[in-house]
Amino acid sequence: MNKIKLNKTRESNVSGYSKSFPTTFKYAKNDILIDDKDKEYLDFFSGAGALNYGHNNDILKEAIVNFLKSDAPVHCLDMDSVIKLNFLNKITEVILKPRGFDYKIQFPSPSGTNAVEAAIKLARKVTKRKKIVAFTHSFHGMTATSLAISGSQEMRHQDIPSQDIIFQPFDGFLGENTNTIEYISKMIATNGSGNQLPAAIILETIQAEGGIKVANEKWLQELQHFANENGILLIVDDIQVGCGRTGNFFSFERAGITPDIVLLSKSISGFGLPLSLVLMKPELDIWKPGEHNGTFRANNLSLCGATKALDYWEDETFSNNVKAKGEFIEKALKKIHENSENVLDVRGLGMIWGIEFVSGEMAKKVSKTLFEQGMIIETCGNMGQVIKLLPPLTITKSNLTKGLEKLQSVIHQVREEEILTY
Ligand SMILES: Cc1ncc(COP(=O)(O)O)c(C=O)c1O
Repeated sequence: MNKIKLNKTRESNVSGYSKSFPTTFKYAKNDILIDDKDKEYLDFFSGAGALNYGHNNDILKEAIVNFLKSDAPVHCLDMDSVIKLNFLNKITEVILKPRGFDYKIQFPSPSGTNAVEAAIKLARKVTKRKKIVAFTHSFHGMTATSLAISGSQEMRHQDIPSQDIIFQPFDGFLGENTNTIEYISKMIATNGSGNQLPAAIILETIQAEGGIKVANEKWLQELQHFANENGILLIVDDIQVGCGRTGNFFSFERAGITPDIVLLSKSISGFGLPLSLVLMKPELDIWKPGEHNGTFRANNLSLCGATKALDYWEDETFSNNVKAKGEFIEKALKKIHENSENVLDVRGLGMIWGIEFVSGEMAKKVSKTLFEQGMIIETCGNMGQVIKLLPPLTITKSNLTKGLEKLQSVIHQVREEEILTY
């Protein structure tokens, strides 16, 4: 016990989630975490979207353990390996071909922000333009370019240079009745607006860290049309809401669009191991060999998990299941909304949902109380005012029900306490 305490003081102050969820975890299975005092927590956080298939998923674990036992190379930079070629074949057959997509695949360094950096670099190289259009409330990661295009971070990182970034209003930012595409097209493609034509537009189809803001399908279609008409590349950052989170493998399938570049990370390895992908239309693949490299690309252990996880997409069963659970969540949240004065809005799609509270303090209190009562759920939004529901897609129906009931009772409890303190 002492040893754990000593080690805690050794880690940099920068560690964040250890402060939001102050305990020491020792065990994890599917939707449950257990700490060193044997307290059980229901996981509505899923490693910020890296654990769509749950903790220590047995099917994936078996594949990974067998891979390790076989002494197949775990690390060989981006040299060819049997597992890498297997993965490329399987993602082509199971994901790309059935959806009519013909993307080439780049393995950048393994965290999401590396995929973002690679995509922006490629878009600038292809178009020979510098400017990038990013959106209000966006989040794309913590390296310099990703921060510069993250609207949600501007207050915290004012020291990051962002002179080549043009921020534009996301769907809904100017109010429900304003079509921001009209505004964007005027600001970006009209002579005299002061803006140079950008290389790319980058967006999340559902802004997750930004407060669960769901772009309308028509808005996405119009944005793609505007980008295509003007020779601007459309980059969809599907790092948090891809890999089945919305019910389909890609979050943009619902709008029937085909982005020029798609970014995947977090749950693509299936097992919580680090892996990122940049999917690009073949004509964009003008990289020279080794031009964008890194030590930990195409890690074979991650690729083993990623290959096995694609089994979930061989038919519609898994996807239908996620959609059904999503509808169940939606119903429960709408009920919570109707019955709670402190809830301003509920919104989401598939199995990513947000509950917007009247204040950041209230959302924080709900998250903290839930943690005390054995549930892990984080906040998001520009003032931390939104509770983000992100359970594993494999959560059992009974634990999903339990979690939603607990959520409802804690929201009620926090409201009661609020009334008493006035
Ligand atoms: C949409 C989106 N893009 C990029 C990132 C950055 O990924 P990573 O933290 O793995 O660098 C995140 C992380 O939360 C994200 O949600």
